[in-house]
Amino acid sequence: MEPLDPDKLPKHLAIIMDGNGRWAQQRMLKRIVGHQRGAETVKMVVEQASLMGIRYLTLFAFSSENWLRPAIEVRALMTLLKKYIRNETARMMRNNIRYNVIGNRSDLPDDVNQTLEEAIHETANNTGMVLTLALSYGGRQELSMAAARLTRDVMVGKLSPDDITIDIFGSYLDTGGLPDPDFLIRTSGEMRISNFLLWQLAYTELYFTDINWPDFTINEFHKALSDFQSRERRFGKTSDQLNKGD
Ligand code: FPP
Repeated sequence: MEPLDPDKLPKHLAIIMDGNGRWAQQRMLKRIVGHQRGAETVKMVVEQASLMGIRYLTLFAFSSENWLRPAIEVRALMTLLKKYIRNETARMMRNNIRYNVIGNRSDLPDDVNQTLEEAIHETANNTGMVLTLALSYGGRQELSMAAARLTRDVMVGKLSPDDITIDIFGSYLDTGGLPDPDFLIRTSGEMRISNFLLWQLAYTELYFTDINWPDFTINEFHKALSDFQSRERRFGKTSDQLNKGD
């Protein structure tokens, strides 16, 4: 395996963890078994990312649209999530990782919210990687809710329409305070953004792999990061300008 350059890692890595269901179906297993195996991949990626020094890791764990899945799968995913957070908090403390959540928390069952609340509180003073779970999250929902909050602030005179810059607007999003992702990985061969971080992905490097999330190994993770390191990020500039440091 090619060694990674620690100075050229993404500061913020976002992942769409896809293909749990197909992984299970290909093996004649129930879909939830795929999610359980997917949670093992989450453990590996979280630990590796934190050890490498990645500052922010954001995982699409449950979308606003996932509520439309069969109730039994939704319930099983919620239980899995709760168990994961409960069981992993000690490891988060050892690795100095801080939990964060984006998405519509009020949609989540009370017991899941309570577990999240405890984990966020317990890890609040950790200074290492910030692990953001996107739960009941949708980019369009996030944008429209931000617009509503911003409008309210304008109506009460806290903000003038002339003050609305990209940064001010960004601060109204659930991700306010987080830098934009530098790199997005999506597993399982789908080449879509699927309503994930629509505003924040404007300049993000995208990486798609055919591997299903439960099969995404440490080797695959390194391969993805090594691909990121080979890219030139121009943010609209020319190569020459970048090489001259303009
Ligand atoms: C997509 O696979 C995955 C999800 C909808 C859930 C992701 C959840 C986990 C990886 C496990 C729990 C998460 C944490 C943070 C512990 P899919 O079911 O859409 O797969 P398919 O497209 O093959 O059906």
